Amino acid sequence: MRTIIEPFRIKTVEPIRMTTRDERQRLLAAAAYNLFAVRADDVLIDLLTDSGTSAMSAAQQAALIGGDESYAGSASFFRFEAAVKNLFPFKHVLPTHQGRAAEAILFSVIGGKGVKVPSNTHFDTTRANIEATGAEAFDLVIAEGLDPNNEHPFKGNMDLARLEAFLAEHGAGVPCVMLTVTNNAGGGQPVSLENIRATAAVAHKYGKRFLIDGCRFAENAFFIKLREKSQANRRVEDIVRDMFADADGMTMSAKKDAFANIGGWLALNDDTLAQSARERLILTEGFPTYGGLAGRDLDAIAQGLKEIVDEDYLAYRLRTSAYVAERLEALGVPTVKPSGGHAIFVDARTFLPHIPPLNYPGQSLAVALYLEGGIRSCEIGTVMFGLQSDGREVPAAMDLVRLAMPRRVYTQSHADYVVEVFENIAKNKERLRGLKIVWQPRRMRHFSAKFMPL
Ligand code: F0G
Repeated sequence: MRTIIEPFRIKTVEPIRMTTRDERQRLLAAAAYNLFAVRADDVLIDLLTDSGTSAMSAAQQAALIGGDESYAGSASFFRFEAAVKNLFPFKHVLPTHQGRAAEAILFSVIGGKGVKVPSNTHFDTTRANIEATGAEAFDLVIAEGLDPNNEHPFKGNMDLARLEAFLAEHGAGVPCVMLTVTNNAGGGQPVSLENIRATAAVAHKYGKRFLIDGCRFAENAFFIKLREKSQANRRVEDIVRDMFADADGMTMSAKKDAFANIGGWLALNDDTLAQSARERLILTEGFPTYGGLAGRDLDAIAQGLKEIVDEDYLAYRLRTSAYVAERLEALGVPTVKPSGGHAIFVDARTFLPHIPPLNYPGQSLAVALYLEGGIRSCEIGTVMFGLQSDGREVPAAMDLVRLAMPRRVYTQSHADYVVEVFENIAKNKERLRGLKIVWQPRRMRHFSAKFMPL
C-alpha cells in the first residue's frame, strides 16, 4: 500500500480550543513574542517539542495502575530496570526525573574546570550542564551535518578525523567522548552504526569512556535499517543493542523514545563512577530505586520501551516527518535535508533572506506560524545559540525553525493544516520583519527572552 497509516486507533481524545487571528495577535503581544510564554490552551497544533508530549497507549495507562510506590525496592523499579537492560545492557541503571538530571549528575562527577567534552553536537541542556561545572563542550559533527542542503544519509555522524586530532591535543582533560543519537540540535539527523562503532574505537584507543545520549535511539535505529545497507534485514531491536554494545554508558530522556511524559536515566558500566553518581542521585533526585520518579512513571517507561521498537510505528513515525517536509519543499519552503525523525527543520535563514541573522529570521517565522495558524514551533538558531558567555552576540551556524512531532498525537489532517499555514505565509513572506530582544537572561535565553517586532 502507498498510504502509510497511523498504526493505532484513538480511544481517548483531547479537544483543541480554536482561536482567531485577532485573538492570537493579542496573545502574542502579551507573551512578548516568545512562544514559551503562550499558554498551551491558546495553541492549536503544538509542535514546540516531541519531549514528554507523547500519547500513552492503553497498555501504558494500565501499567500506571500497577505502579508500586514503595520508597525502596519497588517492583516498578525492577520492571523498569529489566526493560532498560533488555535494550541497553549496562551494569548500572539510575533513574532520573528527566534527561538533563542524568546529565547534571554525570557531569557533577566527571566535569569541572579544565575538562573538555567532545560530541557530535551537544544538546543545549548537555552543553549547559557541562559548562555549569566549569568544563568546556565541543561539537565535532561532520561538515555535511552543517549544510542544510546536503543529502548525506547520516548527517549526525562524528567527524572521526577531528575527534582523533582533538583527543591527541586535549586528551589529558577529556573524561569521555559523547555521541547524540539522533543529533537533535543538528536537525534530528541520525548517526550510522558504522560511525557509532568507529567513534567508540577512537575513544577507547585514547583510553576515554564512550557515552551515548540516547534520547531518540529507536528513530536512529530505524534510519540505520533504512539507510545502512548491511543493516537492511535486521530487527530494530537488534540494531539498538548493537548501537550501544561498545558504549560505556548513556544518558537518556524517557520523554522521547520511551513514550513517557516524564523520566530518564543514567546508565554506566564503571562501578566506581556509578557509585559516585548514585551518591549524587540521592542528594538531588531520590533513592536509587525511584530517582525522582513515581513508581507509576517507571512502569510507563518499561511498557513504552517495548512499544517504541515496533517497526510499523517507526515506519509511520519517519514517514510523517518526510511527508510534511516533501510538501513544504514543494511550496518552496526550504527544509534541512534529508528529513529527520522527530521533527522537520525549516531553514528560516534561506526562506527569509531579507531578515539578517541578528534580527532572528527563525523567531520571525515561528511567530508568523502562530499568528497565521495557531501553530507553536521552536526557533533553533541565533536566539538559542547566539549569546556568548562573554555577552557578545554572534549569528548561529543556522537559523532553523523546528516543527517537532509529538508521538502518536496528531493525524494526517493536522499535518495538512500545518502545510496550508505555511502556504499562506509563503505568499507574503516579504512582509515578515525581524525582531529585536528587549530583555534577556544571561543563560538559555530562548526560554524567557522578550522580543519586539521591528
Ligand atoms: N538530549 C537531547 C538530544 C535532547 O533532545 C534533550 C531534550 C535532552 C538531552 C534533555 O532531556 O528534556 O528530558 O531533560 N530535548 C527536548 C527537546 C527538550 O525539545 O528537544 P530532558
